[in-house]
Amino acid sequence: MTKKLVLLSFVAGLFISCNTKAPQLGKAPLDEVIKAMTLEEKVQLLIGGGMPGFSGDSTVVGETRSLVPGAAGMTHSIPRLGIPSIVVADGPAGLRISSTRENDSLTYYCTAFPVGTLLASTWNTELVENVGKAMGNEVLEYGVDVLLGPALNIQRNQLCGRNFEYYSEDPLISGKIAAAMVRGVQSNGVGTSIKHFAANNQETNRMGNDVRISTRALREIYLRGFERAVKEANPWTVMTSYNRINGTYSSENYELLTDILRGEWGYKGTVMTDWFGGKNPPAQVHAGNDLLMPGIAKQGDAILAAAKDGSLSMDDIDQNVKRILNLILESPRFKGYKYSNHPDLKAHADITRQSAAEGMVLLKNIKTLPLSEQVKKVAAFGVTSYEFISGGTGSGDVNKAYNVSLKDGLTNAGYQLNSDLVGLYENYIKAENEKNKPDPKNRLAMFMPKVRPAEMIIDKSLLQKMAKETDVALITLGRISGEFLDRKIPNDFELSDNELKLIQAVCSTYHAAGKKVLVILNIGGVIETASWKDLPDAILLAWQAGQEGGNTVADILKGAVNPSGKLTMTFPVKYMDVASSTNFPFDYQFNPQNAFGGGPLANQTEEKKELVRNVDYTNYEEDIYVGYRYFDSFKKNVSFPFGYGLSYTQFTYGKDAFVSTVNNGYTFNCTVKNTGNVAGKEVVELYVSAPGKSMNKPAKELKAFAKTKLLQPGESQTMQLIVPQEDLASYDEKDNQWVIEPGNYTGQIGSSSGDIRQSVSFNIPTETVVEKTHNVLNPKVEISKIVK
Ligand code: BGC
Repeated sequence: MTKKLVLLSFVAGLFISCNTKAPQLGKAPLDEVIKAMTLEEKVQLLIGGGMPGFSGDSTVVGETRSLVPGAAGMTHSIPRLGIPSIVVADGPAGLRISSTRENDSLTYYCTAFPVGTLLASTWNTELVENVGKAMGNEVLEYGVDVLLGPALNIQRNQLCGRNFEYYSEDPLISGKIAAAMVRGVQSNGVGTSIKHFAANNQETNRMGNDVRISTRALREIYLRGFERAVKEANPWTVMTSYNRINGTYSSENYELLTDILRGEWGYKGTVMTDWFGGKNPPAQVHAGNDLLMPGIAKQGDAILAAAKDGSLSMDDIDQNVKRILNLILESPRFKGYKYSNHPDLKAHADITRQSAAEGMVLLKNIKTLPLSEQVKKVAAFGVTSYEFISGGTGSGDVNKAYNVSLKDGLTNAGYQLNSDLVGLYENYIKAENEKNKPDPKNRLAMFMPKVRPAEMIIDKSLLQKMAKETDVALITLGRISGEFLDRKIPNDFELSDNELKLIQAVCSTYHAAGKKVLVILNIGGVIETASWKDLPDAILLAWQAGQEGGNTVADILKGAVNPSGKLTMTFPVKYMDVASSTNFPFDYQFNPQNAFGGGPLANQTEEKKELVRNVDYTNYEEDIYVGYRYFDSFKKNVSFPFGYGLSYTQFTYGKDAFVSTVNNGYTFNCTVKNTGNVAGKEVVELYVSAPGKSMNKPAKELKAFAKTKLLQPGESQTMQLIVPQEDLASYDEKDNQWVIEPGNYTGQIGSSSGDIRQSVSFNIPTETVVEKTHNVLNPKVEISKIVK
């Protein structure tokens, strides 16, 4: 907002308030408050109060005037009408505010909870809701009104830099987990912002990329999770994505925001942009993107000018103003909540530790885990064992009080770490970190992953000494990523030469000594595993588990917790096996100048524009065949399939599985029995294969899932998996409707997408049109699509 505009609205407001008693928000009817607002005041409300240190022209939020330092933004206040500013802050893994404040000796640490991918890997909506409750409590107690999360974009490609914030390659699990998180956070009386709506699946040129996609893929894969979260949990706000969809920025997209989100899904809340997103403020207002964040001067000027020349209607403005005022009315700040600045960080750390344990995935285990009582002495290899990664970078990061490394976690659990090795690694890491210190003048540095020390080659004689002196070897591999950047294939998706050599050398030396090797993956996104997974005896996918990560891993290694996490995405054999691989910028070199917009075309004239494929636009040629939908349908081998994860016990699935029709849907029953020796939980997955007579259909699709309680050895539980009938519909883009095809369907109940234990068939005699939709979001250019 310009200083001029603020001044104008202040003077106008002063003039009005001198003459009349202005209606007050919450006391007078909302329409009266809106009627009493000047145009300048309305415009002021539509754009946020700026971002300290970034937009440079903030009028309300100066570094010192920020209501909650470190919060990502706030709205403007209009005191004469009793309208306070409300505060919004990131993000998906915990509240992101500054932990220290100028001239203040107190600290304001927040809990770093596990990243989104780990939470989804629990397949436990109740657990996620509880994490949300704890996270939302910190939002409330630190004086923030809306948490900018959860993030639920589809993990379309294994290299997207923000996959760790997202939940899955599948829309059902994404939507269910997001809904649980929204319910949990909002149970505190604070808001959430589900993001980034929609199809924000790459970071490369994220503010300019055009997603070219069929309406079927959009609706079935990329919008479906958002639809579920909106309908099941009613988030207070939705954050639009930076990218364009079939030519139009999400934040300027009337069809997306008004026809679909509000019209078809019945959403009543507020929509805000992503930070600095979109290009045309009046178009954003018209589209139904209520709030422009963080708010910059020229946006206000553009809206004001459009309102004055009549190209933007007052109805559009008033409608958005009303939705923002409704949001403010709900907020703790408006209600005068006296926040303590003292959430129970200890209790939340416990929740973090326990929830993380349910989302870690045991990928391989040849008689290694849990470690036997005889195992006392441990050799911890890999720099990440000492610099354990709690989460990703950028807005998904959290300013936490501490981070438990694997070394500390193991020590806390009573293991003795070999001190020669500890000393070697710690000295090496210290020296490397000194060399790679980020430039303090680089304002983007705080968002970027810091350069991590490369893996060391361990001397042969030291290895032999270790194999003699210790009972087991652990090797931790780490990866970190975040917004602005997508990941690369060499040294990121693929292992570096040194990592591979380390695994080979440790495995051969330890195996020669008759001892086991365990690999721990402390990563935020998928890496290549096929070429080396045969070497170690066990592999634990620890993800990025929040601030208690080292303790959680130790809980699993000791057997205090039996792992029950399962993959919510596929681990392919090779990157190029992924259906979207050729339509993803895996070889693009990032230029930091483009981080806040622009992209490669920024300096080119209109005429000279040559669009760069996968940067300026991305063709979603894989269409609906994302993740396991592709691998299953096209019978491609994978390294670890979607839904996969081992346990320290075994489960059998009863042959008595059956399906019954109830209340306009189907219930699948199956009894699961713990037939092993230790207590454990099992995720039961239900996939449905459709007849696919007139429509191209994936081999099977996840339609329901459930997790057992902790089953004792010998104990059984009958699981009910419920599929509402409309969930069987596919989107028919020819007639713009959701349709259920008639014919024979098969419900496949399994332990993973690659391990189906029971199948039951049912017939749907007639075609049902579940819903007619708008004919919108159509592609503007022809894109070729793969079909089965
Ligand atoms: C991110 C959002 C985040 C916002 C505010 C943007 O760069 O894309 O996810 O909520 O910043 O920090």
